[in-house]
Amino acid sequence: MTDNDRKQPKPDPCCFIIFGATGDLTHRLVIPALYNLAATDLLPDEFCVVGIVRKAMSNEALRDSLMKGLRQFATRPVDDAIARRLLECVTSIEADPKEPTSFGRMREQLEKLETSRQTGGNRLFYLAVPPDAFAPIARGLGSAGLLKQDDGAWRRLVVEKPFGTDLESAKALNGELLKIVDESQIYRIDHYLGKETVQNILVLRFANGMFEPIWNRNHIDHIQITVDEKLGVGHRGSFYDSTGALRDMVPNHLFQLLSLVAMEPPIRFDAHSVRSEKADVLAAIQTWNEEDALRNSVRGQYQGGTIDDVEIEDYRKTADVRPDSATETYVALKLVIDNWRWAGVPFYLRTGKALGMKRTEVAIKFKQAPFAMFRDTEIDRLSQNYLVISIEPVEGITLQFNTKVPGPTISIDGVEMKFRYKDYFKAEPATGYETLIYDCMIGDNILFQRADSVEAGWQAVQPFLDAWKKAGAKGLEGYQAGSEGPAGADDLLKRDGRSWRKPG
Ligand code: BG6
Repeated sequence: MTDNDRKQPKPDPCCFIIFGATGDLTHRLVIPALYNLAATDLLPDEFCVVGIVRKAMSNEALRDSLMKGLRQFATRPVDDAIARRLLECVTSIEADPKEPTSFGRMREQLEKLETSRQTGGNRLFYLAVPPDAFAPIARGLGSAGLLKQDDGAWRRLVVEKPFGTDLESAKALNGELLKIVDESQIYRIDHYLGKETVQNILVLRFANGMFEPIWNRNHIDHIQITVDEKLGVGHRGSFYDSTGALRDMVPNHLFQLLSLVAMEPPIRFDAHSVRSEKADVLAAIQTWNEEDALRNSVRGQYQGGTIDDVEIEDYRKTADVRPDSATETYVALKLVIDNWRWAGVPFYLRTGKALGMKRTEVAIKFKQAPFAMFRDTEIDRLSQNYLVISIEPVEGITLQFNTKVPGPTISIDGVEMKFRYKDYFKAEPATGYETLIYDCMIGDNILFQRADSVEAGWQAVQPFLDAWKKAGAKGLEGYQAGSEGPAGADDLLKRDGRSWRKPG
């Protein structure tokens, strides 16, 4: 959060209702983010937090548990007075989301609390629950009248990922939710959009005069999007084994990066314009047939190895993972965007777990300069220019270009011009959720996914899901934990005469 954030207006009074209040996400991200908002005076003056718990729990017990979480996961030193003030706003309400009658009782308790806390009836329902609970909770809230907006107050629904598991289920979930609430009331979170560097992609492209004129097929050779993780699957075996790297990362996080990099300039910086352009570019991703989907994808699964001197066991030996699992923990894809700007410019995407280094970046590789002038010199090739948007662990932008090596003969070397966020801005470390939660409270859904872009994302990955399902374990490559991933990922680019960018 920067100094500018402190000048932002305070949101309307509201009640923040968390389903899944005792869960990991609430402790790890939601409460630390609310704390950061409290610390920068960005919470409403009249505010309450309701934790929905399935088994009776006193306010004190819930507050103690959230305080423990805050101490463990806060991104800045915890000031006891601020934390106490925040946690005093927390009330626990017992309700079983599977039991439709519990929503009527919830409403009575909520209304009493809203009167005493003077929150004016504005409600933000945060579904920090497994995805199969999204629709039942929305139905329960809807039939208890808790989401109606006919009394002048607003009612919003925040939904976490995963939003569906394929195109059909995402459409069904959108259909269910849209029967109950209007699209403008739904906030589908993708935590990548809470990252400063991700938001900066729009500013880099559209607030500078020098990039946009060359941001097209005339000047760009190809684009690489990399999200490499060192972490293995750990204790998430059951979720991960039925999900895999593609579903877990591509239609959401990697496509957020892709759409920001590839979208057309929106006519205005508002939710409708920005989200429409993002949805359009995702819809323009060519839908491969099954044969092309296999040709343009690589799947890998990690085997035992070492990362930072720690032994990592074989993916198939992870708790709750099937011993003969064909689930991919690594994926590399080649995609093309069928529009005027990007025709002929491949987008290569890759992401995987248990790799040798953590790295999230978008690398834009420009076409080579004409060689003509250097034909009669010692120089035998010119390297192509790169613009690299680094998201993690380094946050910054690097421009790589060719320069003359000092000396009497003409010799050329690639050098880098680096901008690093930490060198320029003194920002407190944040969870990434502060901006998103604040935006929900002020009703700005620019950073949230709209139904059409979620569906366009699934549409683009569906051919890979279908082709892999048929192929089973055939085509799944092993890679050693701690390595750079399966060899096939290199071949995917090599066959086009290209290679993945090596970290600088
Ligand atoms: C989550 C995935 O959505 O994103 C995880 O479920 C993944 O598997 C995580 O590790 C990556 O997020 P980040 O911010 O660490 O890149």
